[in-house]
Amino acid sequence: MYLSIMYTQEQEQTLFDIGKKILSGSTELYTPNQLAENLRNVIIYADWKYYLHSNPVFSDAEYDSLFSMLKKLEQEYPHLIHPGSPTQRVANGLTEKFPPATHIVPMLSLDNTYNPEDLRDWDRKCRELTGKTSIVYCVEPKYDGASISLVYRDGILVRGATRGDGITGEEITTHVKQIRSLPLAAPLSDYGIAEMEIRGEVVIHKDVFKTYNEQRIKEGLPPLANPRNAAAGTLRMLDPEEVRKRKLSAVLYHISDYVLTQGSNVPAKLHNHYDALHWLYQLGFPSPVQEAKCLEGIDAVIAFCEEFETKRDELPYEIDGLVIKVNDFEDQEKMGMTSHHPRWATAFKFKARQATSKLLRVEFQVGRTGSVTPVAKIEPVAVGGVTISSVSLFNEDVVREKDLKIGDKVLVERAGDVIPYIVKPLSELRDGSEQSIVFPTHCPDCGEVLDKPEDEAVWRCINISCPSQVIERLAHFCSKDALDIRGMGIANVRKFYELGIVKDIAGLYHIDWTRVAALEGFGEKSVQNLKDAIQNSLKQPLYRLIYGLGIRHVGITMAKTLASSVTHLKDLYNWDESKLLALEDVGPKVASSIMHFMKTPENQYLIDLLEQAGMNLSNQQKDIASHAAGTLSGKTFLFTGTLTRFKRSEAEALVEQQGGVIVSGVSSKLNYLITGADAGSKLEKAKKLNTVSILTEEEFMQLIGYEL
Ligand code: IVH
Repeated sequence: MYLSIMYTQEQEQTLFDIGKKILSGSTELYTPNQLAENLRNVIIYADWKYYLHSNPVFSDAEYDSLFSMLKKLEQEYPHLIHPGSPTQRVANGLTEKFPPATHIVPMLSLDNTYNPEDLRDWDRKCRELTGKTSIVYCVEPKYDGASISLVYRDGILVRGATRGDGITGEEITTHVKQIRSLPLAAPLSDYGIAEMEIRGEVVIHKDVFKTYNEQRIKEGLPPLANPRNAAAGTLRMLDPEEVRKRKLSAVLYHISDYVLTQGSNVPAKLHNHYDALHWLYQLGFPSPVQEAKCLEGIDAVIAFCEEFETKRDELPYEIDGLVIKVNDFEDQEKMGMTSHHPRWATAFKFKARQATSKLLRVEFQVGRTGSVTPVAKIEPVAVGGVTISSVSLFNEDVVREKDLKIGDKVLVERAGDVIPYIVKPLSELRDGSEQSIVFPTHCPDCGEVLDKPEDEAVWRCINISCPSQVIERLAHFCSKDALDIRGMGIANVRKFYELGIVKDIAGLYHIDWTRVAALEGFGEKSVQNLKDAIQNSLKQPLYRLIYGLGIRHVGITMAKTLASSVTHLKDLYNWDESKLLALEDVGPKVASSIMHFMKTPENQYLIDLLEQAGMNLSNQQKDIASHAAGTLSGKTFLFTGTLTRFKRSEAEALVEQQGGVIVSGVSSKLNYLITGADAGSKLEKAKKLNTVSILTEEEFMQLIGYEL
């Protein structure tokens, strides 16, 4: 039923053509059964190109459109749903607990080596046990993630499990199905395989991890220590939908068991690990074929390991070493295993990203929202090639949870380009001289009493004129995502503030340039550049200003939503809670923060000052659109769900061409909501409002006079 996953060029062409044909609307040529099968095959092919070859063949919109067609078809004809259908990754509801899953074969660990001598000793044992004079090894990365076991029965992924104690893990099938690089089905029956257990590692790519942690920090949450913890933690989250959002990846490197149906001999025909990795890859599994290398003799292995360690940071994921495996399966068999690890494999561990140091003192830094963050000053220590002397402790809860004390020996970790982190104190090394960390009751900068709202972990200085806060607010206003004033990084902002050249945000537009020119390090050119950067900031789009104002809980995406919902910043002065709540992703906390900011006289005064300085406060795009003449003039539109006839951007352009206005949220100002497949919360909101015309895609086409 499934095409073999290693597609020939011809098969690729055929699947691409079928996809295009379906996208062009020529679906009437197929019976529902044929259409479902074609859609399944095209989507599985598209996933394969995307996840195993990083080479997408359809645009995101085209992919979404194919996916929603398949979903619609399966809704209409439930008997067409196949367990291997790409739609079956979708999870509904929370997982209450993870039932135990006994592994078919125990999940063993690996023995470790740390230097060339260890490797030579191991090679000697390998030669003794196999009786060979020279051995071919297969070397591959040691992925630093969470181990998983997958069971495929009749070609379908039927069970995913964590390692647990090696004998029994936890069943996480729904969760592993959220990992898009893992196939839900593979043509194993073509090889007479009834059941197969595969081992591998779930990892989070460094860039995904970084973005995720940045988000957590913005939300006032402590970042996760490293991608490994993030991967393991994600697999045990209750909501599979959250798992999907975390964009996990997986690598599969070991077939631990298989059961044949009839007289097949294919896995038996695989003679070595390297071929097995390639075979897995051909079946559509994400095995490390690009990374794995066969080398003869331990000298070649040692040279490879040493070379690879220098390139460790170039990889998109974290590895903590390399795994060296005796390549030949017969040799592996001869060598066998201990109760702890196979004798035919060993890990070559890279230099640790962890080191011990001593906690000297804790300083408290005040951020732009007044948050007081404890920062550990530690004895300088080199971790992963970088010297660390300062490590954020995030908030009081983190300090209490870790039970940190001044004078403690601490374990510090820094993985790749991840921010350094104190893993734990080495409490067993305490000598009684350690002292508790005392949290200040008053702001370390301005002396104001600190406040801690009940539902928060962070103490705050509530004096908005607190110098530390003003400096941080200024730096945020000038930052890249906000008004993007190059040359006004934190160091210059602090300098200008301390010299009284810029005292607040509005002051940026009234700088006494003769004073700046007199400063050391400010030549004619750099003064002119700074002047230009400040001048240009006046013309920035509205969302950058909204973000730059530093309203709590308003990140860049929210700033864009707000900007596109108004024609002028001051419109927001009159927005009430219900209007704000109708916007996408706005909950009570965010709404209250925006309302509070917009109604505070000091903030309104700042906005007036910026306006006088010539700052753009209008949503220019919207101005243009609403003034355009056309049949839809002045009417507001919003699209939700997956459109099948247009790309969303095309549909929006059609509205704007006719004078309509695209808004980003459902509110009483919205005239038309156009619903594609799987419309969700926006549709619910619009229904409740009772004032919005809800149109299908077809009705929308009629409205704009588009030929059906
Ligand atoms: S082979 C019998 N290969 O490292 C097979 N393990 O520290 C034993 N790991 O539990 C595993 N990358 O979770 C193997 N390329 C790789 C690996 C790998 C990471 C993990 C695995 C194992 C742990 C031992």
